[in-house]
Amino acid sequence: MAILEILQYPEKSLLLPSEPVKTIDDKIISLTKDMGETMFAAPGVGLAAPQIGVNQRIIVYDTRADIPKDSEDKTKAKEFKALINPEIIKKTGSIVSENEACLSVPDLTSNAKRYEKVTIKALNIDGEKLEFNVEGIFAIIMQHEIDHLDGILFFERISLLKKKMYKKRIAKKE
Ligand code: NI
Repeated sequence: MAILEILQYPEKSLLLPSEPVKTIDDKIISLTKDMGETMFAAPGVGLAAPQIGVNQRIIVYDTRADIPKDSEDKTKAKEFKALINPEIIKKTGSIVSENEACLSVPDLTSNAKRYEKVTIKALNIDGEKLEFNVEGIFAIIMQHEIDHLDGILFFERISLLKKKMYKKRIAKKE
């Protein structure tokens, strides 16, 4: 396993739509393991393949993202899951995520507009078909990570003014 470099905006691969995975082979399996390790090292609760420069529809997430950071349960072994070709097939309600952030969007946390509940269809790492409902933090993680697969960064879901200010700030640094 290896910790990979996480690319940051305005890196191109972050802004491109990703291709579906055709075959879950050893290369893909090993990539998801690296992604899990990279996510925990960052640390983050979700990571999408374009963030490490691979434009394929793969995401990983921390299955214990709902456990508070200072809770004792958090010290147990870390666990992540990978989803291949994930899709949102149903979305209901609307919420505002609090202080959303992204490992590829440095120095920005913001509330973002999200659906409250989503139904996800995906393959697991064994190629089995999954369909499940999520709400709360997992609904936000899924929407955030699947957005990455469409080349959408979370500042597209925040206020227009905040987004403009952020882009200006980054353009000055370049
Ligand atoms: Ni992100």
